[in-house]
Amino acid sequence: MSDPLRPLSVLFVEDDPDAQLLIERQLRRSGYAPDIRRVETLAELRAALAGPYDVVLSDYSLGAVTALDVLAVFRAEGRDVPFIIVSGAMGDELGVTAMLSGAHDYIFKGNLSRLAPAIERELREADGRRDRRAAQDALRRANEELEARIRARTEDLERVARSEREAHEALKLAQAHLVQAEKLAAFGQMVAGIAHEVNNPLAYVINNVAVLQRDVGGLAALVERYQTADAVLAREAPALAEEIRDAAARLDLPYVLTHLPAQWASTRDGLSRILQLVLDLRVFARLDRGDFDDVDLDAGVASTINVLRGRAAQRRVTLSLALGPVGRVYHQPSKINQVVMNLVANAIDASPVGGDVAVETRLAGAWVEVSVADRGEGIAPEVAGRIFEPFVTTKPPGEGTGLGLSISYGIVQEHMGEIVVSSEPGRGATFVVRLPRDRRALSGRDSIV
Ligand SMILES: Nc1ncnc2c1ncn2[C@@H]1O[C@H](COP(=O)(O)OP(=O)(O)OP(=O)(O)O)[C@@H](O)[C@H]1O
Ligand SMILES: [Mg+2]
Repeated sequence: MSDPLRPLSVLFVEDDPDAQLLIERQLRRSGYAPDIRRVETLAELRAALAGPYDVVLSDYSLGAVTALDVLAVFRAEGRDVPFIIVSGAMGDELGVTAMLSGAHDYIFKGNLSRLAPAIERELREADGRRDRRAAQDALRRANEELEARIRARTEDLERVARSEREAHEALKLAQAHLVQAEKLAAFGQMVAGIAHEVNNPLAYVINNVAVLQRDVGGLAALVERYQTADAVLAREAPALAEEIRDAAARLDLPYVLTHLPAQWASTRDGLSRILQLVLDLRVFARLDRGDFDDVDLDAGVASTINVLRGRAAQRRVTLSLALGPVGRVYHQPSKINQVVMNLVANAIDASPVGGDVAVETRLAGAWVEVSVADRGEGIAPEVAGRIFEPFVTTKPPGEGTGLGLSISYGIVQEHMGEIVVSSEPGRGATFVVRLPRDRRALSGRDSIV
């Protein structure tokens, strides 16, 4: 029994209908059951392109067009189907040109016995090409899959690194808060202790000075009365009178008597300044009383500034104040004092000798603003973006911990406020703290802190 005929779908580009019969017969003889679709023009070719074809057979010259034009249409579609030129009149030269343009073979109509083997070979080669393409596709897919897996893995690793970094940051921040809280507590206790210790002797010094002023005033009046008896004494007891005169000269009695009132005044002034400082220290040191309260914010700022006057004086920095008044603000006085203290201390540190630092408070609608401006060196550009991070400092070791601003930032956050800085290198820095006058009035945000 002979082998069954193999189906073969053929696109046949040919303007001679008789040629189809020849081809069909030749293919049947070679064991194929051809299904031939014949087209005559490029337009028909385009319309027929979609079909699945095993092979394209094309005449060389079709009126105005040639097999090369047909080939171009086919290639433009990106189809890889064996393309064989079957022509009655085509020289070897044209055949070579056609093959260079992508035709797979060319056959003369007078030698159709070559057709079947050529188709056979081209189908095998097309299969080979398909297999290679499939292998390449598989390789490309495997590559893509691998790349996707590497990408996913990299992202995983980055995520892990990120969360580790975040955990580390959180730890650093928590540690900073702890250190600062302890620093504050210790500092507060020390300040409160000193204020208390100074307060007792200060109280009796102030009392005694008042008594002394009265008594010394009386004694001075008495001495003046005695002086009126000078002439009598000189006559009655000249030696004694001489002795008294010498003693008075050594004492420079007239000077002492004239300047006593001024000295009392400056002593009283000094004492009241010490008293004010002690009171300020006590206000400032109420660090344990961290409760929110409706209290005068300006008073806290003023007392904090007074605490820093010594530090300012050391560098001959003038502290100028322009306080609101902003009145009562719902806040934690001890903590906001701490913020002001950090900002003003930084401003003093940044100021040149003889510079000045301006501290202002003002109302701005439902907010109060505290601004601290200096005309120092400004914030170094390389740290500008990080100054609110803990442990970021440009001060020499032992002078700055780099915690002041990070703690201040946290405190202002707790108050639902914000802290902003503007600085021009070489022209100073201005920090502005904005706090809600009453954060209870900020709807629905009460319970956050
Ligand atoms: N007014 C300012 N002018 C210029 N630089 C400033 C000013 N305020 C802060 N800085 C910069 O920000 C850094 C961080 O300030 P921060 O108050 O957090 O820490 P510190 O002052 O260095 O140390 P600490 O306050 O803990 O003693 C400072 O070291 C300084 O470089
Ligand atoms: Mg500081």
